[in-house]
Amino acid sequence: MEKLATADAILRRKGRQVYWVSPDTTVFEALKVMREKNVGALLVMEDDRLVGIFSERDYARKVAIEGRDSRVTPVRDITTKPVHTITPQTPISECMEMMSKYRVRHLPVLEDDRVVGVISVGDVVQWIIEAQSATIDQLQSYITGAYPG
Ligand SMILES: NC(=O)c1ccc[n+]([C@@H]2O[C@H](COP(=O)([O-])OP(=O)(O)OC[C@H]3O[C@@H](n4cnc5c(N)ncnc54)[C@H](O)[C@@H]3O)[C@@H](O)[C@H]2O)c1
Repeated sequence: MEKLATADAILRRKGRQVYWVSPDTTVFEALKVMREKNVGALLVMEDDRLVGIFSERDYARKVAIEGRDSRVTPVRDITTKPVHTITPQTPISECMEMMSKYRVRHLPVLEDDRVVGVISVGDVVQWIIEAQSATIDQLQSYITGAYPG
């Protein structure tokens, strides 16, 4: 893996869109947003400020199994806090270490306290697959003499 590659490389590939809900949104409404956007987590934002994250795991462990009513429970009651965040300059290797250490699948990307993207475990895996494939192609070209460098 490219040691110097940072989270920004992933953001440039996947874009800087951010899906979020306010803390007062009900869990039911938040789940509908997750389904519509086809994502496994939503940032919880208040006045443009990141105040938490709500994931499928939060739903499973804090709502479903506890027998809470998702139609009346606000996201603020079950939001995971504090949130582990990164910046665009965070090396991808460090993102992987954080995901493993903190057992999280999503890392919000902050620039000057402003959310500028989200990186998931799937994004990191996809990036590694593509980086390895590019390395193999380069090595094959080198071995067969077609490598220009
Ligand atoms: N082919 C690809 O490039 C690619 C990239 C990521 C994930 N996936 C696949 O999708 C499945 C689930 O992925 P996952 O476990 O990483 O989580 P996920 O389903 O939450 O993430 C899917 C995509 O949505 C983005 N995303 C998630 N929450 C977001 C939010 N709140 N705001 C903005 N973007 C958000 C992620 O960054 C990722 O690109 C896996 O099967 C994975 O392999 C594929």
